[in-house]
Amino acid sequence: MRIPESKILEIASAADIVQVISSYVDLKRAGKDYRGVCPFHGDKDPSFYVSPSKSIFHCFGCATGGSVFNFIMKMENLTFVESARMLAERYGVQLVLESRRGPSDTEKEKLLRALQVAHESFRSNLAKSTEAMDYLLNRGLSRSWIDRLELGFAADSWDDLQRRLLGSGIGSNVAAGAGLLKQRQGGGFYDYFRSRIMIPIHDINSRLIAFGGRIFGDGDPKYLNSPESALFRKKYTLYGLDSAREAIRKTGRAILVEGYFDQIALRIHGIENAVAPLGTALGNAQIKLVKRFAEKITTIFDGDEAGLRAVKRSIPLFISEGIEADCVILKEDKDPDEAIRRMGVDEFTRMIDKPQPMLEFFLETLVNQYDFTTLRGRNLGIEECLDLLGRIADSTARDYLIERMSSRIKVKEERLRKLLGSQKSVRETGNESEKPSKALSLFDFPAHERNVIRGMLLRKGFIDRVLEAGILKDIEHPRLSDLANMIIHFQNSHGHFDYQSFVRSLEDQEYASLVASWLQPRPEEDDLRPEFDGNLVMDQSLDAIRQKKLEKRKTEIIDRMRKCDPSNEEYGTLAQELLSLGRRLKL
Ligand code: UTP
Ligand code: MN
Repeated sequence: MRIPESKILEIASAADIVQVISSYVDLKRAGKDYRGVCPFHGDKDPSFYVSPSKSIFHCFGCATGGSVFNFIMKMENLTFVESARMLAERYGVQLVLESRRGPSDTEKEKLLRALQVAHESFRSNLAKSTEAMDYLLNRGLSRSWIDRLELGFAADSWDDLQRRLLGSGIGSNVAAGAGLLKQRQGGGFYDYFRSRIMIPIHDINSRLIAFGGRIFGDGDPKYLNSPESALFRKKYTLYGLDSAREAIRKTGRAILVEGYFDQIALRIHGIENAVAPLGTALGNAQIKLVKRFAEKITTIFDGDEAGLRAVKRSIPLFISEGIEADCVILKEDKDPDEAIRRMGVDEFTRMIDKPQPMLEFFLETLVNQYDFTTLRGRNLGIEECLDLLGRIADSTARDYLIERMSSRIKVKEERLRKLLGSQKSVRETGNESEKPSKALSLFDFPAHERNVIRGMLLRKGFIDRVLEAGILKDIEHPRLSDLANMIIHFQNSHGHFDYQSFVRSLEDQEYASLVASWLQPRPEEDDLRPEFDGNLVMDQSLDAIRQKKLEKRKTEIIDRMRKCDPSNEEYGTLAQELLSLGRRLKL
């Protein structure tokens, strides 16, 4: 069920944000805006703002914010659609919910078809390439499994796929929307995947929504995934879940591995309940997805991974989702793919059937790693515990952890509690970007990148300039890079961009809060208000990122030229590029 955007707009106009929020919060006028005490965190100061002109709310205390829908979602604990329904009912907007076929469905259908045609092309390439086929056979896959897994091969060509797509009547713009082609800076398109083994990625309903491509031969990066699209959002996807869901339901347990080929290796050995994230650390949304089928998740951590760090990062995630989590650590093997091939499926099964609860593994590693008989070792160990505790929002879970830690590392519970209390107040003023429990605000981000995103949100034409500058990939902060892609996607699918509609489209609270914090700077930081925001600053930031990208390329070229014989053809090409780079680089 979707609610058409025109209806969302109608509801938002009827359900005036100040009126809606004032039925929950006592609001007082403050200039153009309204302020009150935030209902979302324990606060006594009025740091909660509502801006009728921007149609957003934002709290400076906990950095929560967004549209009127985000407010209701959070306040009433509803989904986006439910909150829209509730407001529609309250403010008398007729809601005839659109069923399956809306305009954006046909849009998605186009992308799906482009992916299917590409898939056929990849599969026929693989059947024709003995080398690519041999590679897979050498990795322990049989022909029938290669067929069943529907693997493919992207040719070592800049336009093989584009020609095939055009031949099937699929335009390059649609193909680019599906992440199959990339737009050239000077116009035209090129194949995104070249010389790669292609692994189809399905959503939970077995629709083909993306590809993962493993480099065939040498090159970087080893794996390239389809970019996010209207169909594909990494955060909400797990590789293999469509084939694994039944086995997960039956066994009540999901096995979490790191790579595509790990999932594949387990599957062909008859372990059918494995899934893998897509090159990113596991997130809440993915756990929610697994939780629909599993009561328990067993993670297999790679032997070469810093086990303790990975486990420490995962524990709060599993606790906040309330799912039982245990783990198996590989000692001799690099990954599950290698392990199962080396030890055979029986020994491997025995190993994963004796997992350790994550918390116990964490404590055991801690006790082995630090010498608790020395003051220094003891302090370091306690520090690790406090760090983990600081990431756990649920107080019952925290109590349990404190109890376990106290008995294992032999530190009194009261002492841990006391240290936690003093540490917390220090940390809250600190600036830690990897803090899942606290919403981020504007100032937690690198200045240039933040200015560019702001430019995209607030300035007409700036989105196109970012596209022209070709710096999208160079936005390094993952959340900002996500946001940039969401903005571009919004503009592509709507044909225009305005931030009010964009905020209303953000169902994800994290991003809604982020954008709201951008649009509603602190009153005392007046010069940072959008309307005062010097256009110059945004231009300079765009320029700085572009320069950095060129610099990076320059170093790369010089490096390669050093390693290259000057009589070689490549040397000439590199020198040419260096020359033209020199012209574009400012001194
Ligand atoms: P690994 O580098 O551990 O590779 O990446 P692997 O799965 O063992 O690959 P093989 O066996 O050499 O083929 C694990 C996962 O991390 C993501 C991919 O999802 C990969 O399966 N990854 C890795 C990327 O997204 N990009 C990369 O460049 C590398
Ligand atoms: Mn591997």
